[in-house]
Amino acid sequence: METAKGMAVHDDVSRQLLSGGQIAARVAELGAQITADYRACAAQGERIVMVGILRGAAIFMADLARAIELPVEMDFMCVSSYGDRASSSGTVSIQKDLDRSIEGCHVIVVEDVVDTGLTLARLRDELGSRGPKTVEIAALMRKQHAGQVPLDCRYVGFEGPDEFIVGYGLDFAERYRNLPYIGVLKPEIYL
Ligand code: PRP
Repeated sequence: METAKGMAVHDDVSRQLLSGGQIAARVAELGAQITADYRACAAQGERIVMVGILRGAAIFMADLARAIELPVEMDFMCVSSYGDRASSSGTVSIQKDLDRSIEGCHVIVVEDVVDTGLTLARLRDELGSRGPKTVEIAALMRKQHAGQVPLDCRYVGFEGPDEFIVGYGLDFAERYRNLPYIGVLKPEIYL
């Protein structure tokens, strides 16, 4: 396991799921794919806006943006889901909205993890109502989850297990986001 001296939080991780190197390699692939897909849009002078969903996506967003070899704008939203997540009847409340209009833009929503899919399903509807040319989703990790709502994710970094994972932006009680890898949290930490 990669370690950083003095980071006691590593002791809370039972096993490493994805190393920093594995994540970097996959992010580079996603960046290349996005570059190829949007090259023509950029050549026509159309705006491409990456929308990072705070706070979990901050680290993925920073790396993915640098892997895209096109002019892209970066904006951020902070949302929270509530309601009956299992039956997809919840709603998303916006705590921080975008700073600029996305009308006529190509939007790429950047998210760290898709669990039930509810947050992104609602968010896609919300952003779609603002007149963008296109809205696509880039998720670092999609959990295998029986209760997921239907969600078309064009860019998925990894298909992950339905376990409590932390690191590379993912938290438990706001901790572990700065781990340079993704690992499985020991049950005794959150139970
Ligand atoms: C996490 C994650 C997604 C959402 C996914 O956010 O970043 O936004 O949950 O869950 P879903 O697919 O079941 O809707 P969280 O509320 O933990 O906030 P954070 O980004 O600040 O960690």
